[in-house]
Amino acid sequence: SPLEGLLINQTMTKFILLGFGSLPDIHILLFLLFLVIYIATVAANTLIVVLVFIDQHLHTPMYIFLGNLSSLETCYASTILPWVLVSLLTGHRTISLCGCITQLYFSGSLACTECYLLAAMSYDRYLAICKPLRYSTLMNTRFCLQLAAGSWLNGFLAITIFVFFVSQLIFCGPNEIDHFYCESTPLIKLSCSDTHLVILLDFVLACSFTLPPFLLTLTSYVRIITTIVKIPSSTGRQKAFSTCSSHLIVVTLFYGTIIIVYLDPLRNLNKMFSLCYTVLTPLVNPLIYSLRNREVKGALTNAVSKCRFHKKAAETQIIT
Ligand SMILES: *[C@@H]1O[C@H](CO)[C@@H](O)[C@H](O)[C@H]1NC(C)=O
Repeated sequence: SPLEGLLINQTMTKFILLGFGSLPDIHILLFLLFLVIYIATVAANTLIVVLVFIDQHLHTPMYIFLGNLSSLETCYASTILPWVLVSLLTGHRTISLCGCITQLYFSGSLACTECYLLAAMSYDRYLAICKPLRYSTLMNTRFCLQLAAGSWLNGFLAITIFVFFVSQLIFCGPNEIDHFYCESTPLIKLSCSDTHLVILLDFVLACSFTLPPFLLTLTSYVRIITTIVKIPSSTGRQKAFSTCSSHLIVVTLFYGTIIIVYLDPLRNLNKMFSLCYTVLTPLVNPLIYSLRNREVKGALTNAVSKCRFHKKAAETQIIT
């Protein structure tokens, strides 16, 4: 009966993620591309986490934050890419409401945590460059721990509130999401409840949770750059700049793409730009931070030579 149809329609429990359209020819190509990116992302970030753990030289605030950022990027890529890979390979595009909200929860929390970690990293560089004499007293182990823990807590808190309200929404109507993962904006658009409150909440949470770390990051780098410009010797200037230029690249990439996606000036390119921060940033962050960094390279060489040494020692033990 029509009434039954209405009741069934009122509780949509499955969504279709349109992903990259219906061109099966390029799907296998995209699959291979994303597979390589995913493996490289997990490998590179895990390598950094392991190096930070085993190398004594890297037990400083800057590298502890970097280790946290790398573990975050591994998780972040894992909330989105495995799903994309499976759907490209099998053509399976439906996701349950529960799965969708879970993905929204984890990807959102991790992205929000990243804002705080980047802010902590920029503040750490600010103290190191602008207050070098007081650096070790200000950025002590306890404060560093508090900043890292606070980042994770704030990130998850903000999104928990948001996702609670999204999960109260009713979906009764078209269930196609034109994206490759469950993003909040296209999901909310599909709801037939009154979404004004959720949209307002999204805005308020964005302002109260992501604006402060963004402003802190911005201020830190402005102060850093004005300090560096004033350094009289050009070698001193270069040295100071080299320690924070990689941070600046990462921050610009992260906020640049997010601002483009959320302010949405290029309507149809949204999906492309979200690829940047969901797929590209987790991959390039460890590369930017590490390949240009003498200490990380040194730690890697150390670890490799230690492995060789252990292998040799084991071999000689077998022989004798
Ligand atoms: C993340 O930060 C915490 C707190 O400072 C630290 O104990 C932990 O080792 C860090 N994690 C990694 C992977 O570096």
